[in-house]
Amino acid sequence: MGEIRSIVILTGAGVSAESGIDTFRDGGGLWEQHRVEDVATPEAFARDPDLVQRFYDMRRAAIQTKQPNAAHDALARLDAQWTGELLIVTQNVDDLHERAGARRLIHMHGEHLKAWCTACDARSSWLGPLGDRPACPACGVAGLLRPDVVWFGEMPYRMEDIYRALNRADLFVSIGTSGAVYPAAGFVREARASGAATLELNMEPSQGTHWFDAARHGPASALVPAWVAEMLEE
Ligand code: OAD
Repeated sequence: MGEIRSIVILTGAGVSAESGIDTFRDGGGLWEQHRVEDVATPEAFARDPDLVQRFYDMRRAAIQTKQPNAAHDALARLDAQWTGELLIVTQNVDDLHERAGARRLIHMHGEHLKAWCTACDARSSWLGPLGDRPACPACGVAGLLRPDVVWFGEMPYRMEDIYRALNRADLFVSIGTSGAVYPAAGFVREARASGAATLELNMEPSQGTHWFDAARHGPASALVPAWVAEMLEE
């Protein structure tokens, strides 16, 4: 591997699993007998907003009781100490990366702790439920707030910034993601095509594992601190 100046890290639900937040596709991927894919869509929200709000209200309340784990802590340490370029792109909508102290972070699938007003387009930080149809703090319209998360069929956030970073990366590392959901699942190929070395850290081989130059399999709380220590020693 040549000299590494620029790192892009993609994280998924596996990074937060050891904090006690359920992943999407382990354990059958069911919530109250609904496939997660059937809840996390604009069509589901149009059909049954109360059901979708209840799902997100439950998850929003749950993440506030969770704490970052050793994997979040190690990535925050790398962010603080890495003097070259670095970007953490997370598919996670929890706030555990930032609570651990990460700063160079993009939430490509949005954030649980924000509400998005479909009347005035404002985004507000939001800790409580949305199912009781509260008013938007910005415009005062009631009942038109939705979770500020990206649903299936919607465009993830800040894709231009992400592709720019992928095209400059010397190293791309994918952590705790099944590689099942695009466009994130395609990032490894984008980075490779631009000449980056690629590394997977996941509990098991992801769906795209063959695209990576190297893969290490095990719990993120062990793999990530070990890899970060290697990077900061180099
Ligand atoms: P998944 O649930 O699809 O995959 C989680 C991955 O983490 C799996 O490959 C597990 O093997 C691995 N894993 C589980 N526990 C782990 C641990 N302790 N250490 C390391 N790896 C572990 O979650 P994502 O890939 O994040 O999108 O899912 C991608 C997207 O699909 C989500 O952002 C969400 C979902 O639908 C939207 O909501 C738009």
